[in-house]
Parts: sequence; C-alpha cells; structure tokens
Amino acid sequence: MNAADIVYLPETVAHDADIDQINEEAFGPGRFTRAAYRIRENGPHERPLSFVATYQGAVIASVRMTRVSAGPGRGLMLGPLAVRHDFKSVGIGRKLVKIALEGAEEAGFPLVFLVGDEPYYGPLGFRRIPRGQVSMPRPVDLGRLLAVEFSSGAVAKLAGIIDHEDVGTKP
Ligand SMILES: CC(C)(COP(=O)(O)OP(=O)(O)OC[C@H]1O[C@@H](n2cnc3c(N)ncnc32)[C@H](O)[C@@H]1OP(=O)(O)O)[C@@H](O)C(=O)NCCC(=O)NCCS
Repeated sequence: MNAADIVYLPETVAHDADIDQINEEAFGPGRFTRAAYRIRENGPHERPLSFVATYQGAVIASVRMTRVSAGPGRGLMLGPLAVRHDFKSVGIGRKLVKIALEGAEEAGFPLVFLVGDEPYYGPLGFRRIPRGQVSMPRPVDLGRLLAVEFSSGAVAKLAGIIDHEDVGTKP
C-alpha cells in the first residue's frame, strides 16, 4: 500500500455503517460507557468537519468532531479516532487529526478538545488542560483531557463540565 492510495474525504451518511464497524473493532462494547461517548449521545456530530480515510473505496479510518461547551468556553471535541488494524502505523491517524484540526480552524472554532494519550496527541499540538479546570459527564482520567487552541485564551475559557453544546442551549 502506498500513502498516495489513501483518499481522505469529509464524512457522509453513506459512511456510517463502516465507521460503526471500525469503532467496534477499535474500542469494543466498552466504548458505550466512555465519558466522550456520553457527550456524543447528547447531540449530533459535525459531519462536514468529520473525516474518513478510504483505500480502494473502502473506509479504513475515521475521525469525528462534535460541538462542545464548558462554561463560557466552546469548541469541537475530536473523537472517536480509529484506524483499521491492517492500516495502523503508516500515518493515517496523524493525517486525519491534522485534516480535522485544519477544518475546525477554518470553520472558526476557537479550540479542539479530546480525551486521549498525550504522547500521541502532544506532537500534533495538544496540551493538557490544567487539572481541576474541567470535568466530564462521566468519570474520566483528568490527565487525558487535552486541547489545542486557535485563538489565544480559548482553553482558559473552558470551565466546569464539558458537554455537547446543545445541552447548554436546551430550554
Ligand atoms: C491510535 C490510533 C488512532 C493511531 O492511528 P495510526 O494511524 O496507527 O497512527 P499513526 O500512524 O498516525 O501513528 C503511529 C504512531 O503512533 C504511536 N501510537 C499509537 N497509539 C498511541 C498511543 N495511544 N500513545 C502513544 N503513541 C501511540 C504508534 O506506536 C506509532 O509510533 P511510531 O510512528 O513511532 O511507530 C490507532 O492505533 C487506533 O485506531 N487505535 C485504537 C483506537 C484508539 O485508541 N484511538 C485513540 C483514542 S484516544
């Protein structure tokens, strides 16, 4: 496989079944209990800002983006990010993160947040959110709350429980 054979596309409804299968393979049934999943249950993800990687027409990796807010702070939550087993460690995950960050910035979001491993996401620009600044609707390792900001001071505005942006705006 050549990196040039991988095609990156904005997500559409047609990709849904393949994405579910990839996330099942990557995270198993435990994914439904994760803190980030709880947030995603509270509202839709942003399809035009979510991306898939395809190889010979088949979806082999996916990253989704969801609008979130916490106090006066807002942004996009990145995840789940998953790459099919046979295509791991050739740079597809990193490339999907980069494309998603570019899309988020172009769309005017001030930051991107995620729950993940700092050793993987740190080189892509993510930094730990200071412990105690934010929490999530379900228990989570606070050391795994990471964010990258596009406008100065955007991360400092996050305060309290991070949830789907629609939760804060519901009557
Ligand atoms: C994590 C994941 C998305 C990475 O995708 P990928 O396309 O294989 O990653 P890349 O090719 O961009 O990068 C590979 C490198 O990241 C490293 N890496 C992978 N997962 C890592 C992690 N959790 N922490 C630190 N490094 C990690 C690999 O060891 C590899 O290192 P190398 O380049 O020195 O060999 C993929 O392994 C996956 O789908 N994992 C299961 C689901 C998951 O954990 N998703 C992330 C949730 S936060």
